[in-house]
Amino acid sequence: MKIVSLVGARPQFIKEALVGAAVREHAAWRHVLVHSGQHYDADMSDVFFQELDIPKPDYHLGIGSGSHARMTAAALTGVEDILLGETPDALLVYGDTNTTLAGALAAAKLHIPVIHVEAGIRMLPRTMPEEINRVVTDRLSVLMCCCSELGRRNLAAEGLTDGVHVTGDVMYDLFLRMRPRFTPEKTCAGNGLKPESFVLATLHRDYNVDTPASLRGMLEGLAAVQEVHALPILLPLHPRTRKRIQDFGLAPLLAGLRICEPLGYLETMSLTCASRFIISDSGGLQKEAYYAGKRCVVMMPDTGWRELTDCGWNVLCAPQRESILAAADRVMAAMPCPQAVYGDGAAAKKIIDSVLGALHSTPETPAP
Ligand code: UD1
Repeated sequence: MKIVSLVGARPQFIKEALVGAAVREHAAWRHVLVHSGQHYDADMSDVFFQELDIPKPDYHLGIGSGSHARMTAAALTGVEDILLGETPDALLVYGDTNTTLAGALAAAKLHIPVIHVEAGIRMLPRTMPEEINRVVTDRLSVLMCCCSELGRRNLAAEGLTDGVHVTGDVMYDLFLRMRPRFTPEKTCAGNGLKPESFVLATLHRDYNVDTPASLRGMLEGLAAVQEVHALPILLPLHPRTRKRIQDFGLAPLLAGLRICEPLGYLETMSLTCASRFIISDSGGLQKEAYYAGKRCVVMMPDTGWRELTDCGWNVLCAPQRESILAAADRVMAAMPCPQAVYGDGAAAKKIIDSVLGALHSTPETPAP
């Protein structure tokens, strides 16, 4: 059996690292790796392949950046060519990026079964690009692997019940596997920080950083947390965010913060483990913070990881100074860490078993 696995952006490299390794470990199928090139800078892409021992992709589409339509269209035609040449038994896609959507669409039109890892996540606003990508990808998938029961319930509410499996989160598997390689103290020292005495912050979500008022509000909020709690804030800057700060003339607001380039997985996790808490609008980091036993201020109007906000471990906030300060106050309080929310660290094996089970029972569909 042959499966094409499609990645393109940072969170997908992280998930592929684990799934690809498990496929090799269990000799489950021939795994053809395709990189769309949605993320292309060395610190947005290469560093993850090196640190996480991901093999060189079999294909690289080099789609680069652009409008949603241009990026999706470039990935769509590129993936279609590969699928026509490789004639795989299935296409594996991860998460919710434009790469995910393009792959699912290309495969579904060729009657190639789509497997969606991290299926069933739903959040508002429905107009958010990632939400559109999630809903359409799930609709086109024959196998949906969910991180928790919430994913299964979300899919059932849309009438999707066949091919739905709760496998747990591969990002948790990866966290456990890589933990021996985290170096919290050394990484802190390298960044001039003291363990438990700083905040790690990230921001890149389009609706946050593409609007001057939101971007200003978030930067003012970070500065206020730093001042009120006397906790230095380290802010690795995503290229989208860096560009918007320049476009909107907000660079003076960075003055008190510690700014650096985007970080790889090991450095990010080492700093997460050493931090006092996290402030982020990243879907992945709010979950990884929990794996590290840290709480997270989530600068989003909603989150797909509601298990963590419903119990109060993570706290949502608006992109405004006062809202960020109030959320930071809440996560600084002590609270018992919720247990085993996203599986038991064996998600990759469960995904492989689900795929093997599903594909053997999927009737052959003739190519158009
Ligand atoms: C994408 C995903 C988002 C995910 C995030 C992880 C979509 C719709 N969004 O958002 O779900 O959380 O990846 O980072 O797919 N850029 C560079 N170098 C790069 C990559 C990007 O300079 O290597 C710049 C470009 O100016 C680009 C911008 O960053 O226009 C945004 O990149 P893009 O891939 O469109 O979206 P992300 O914000 O990274």
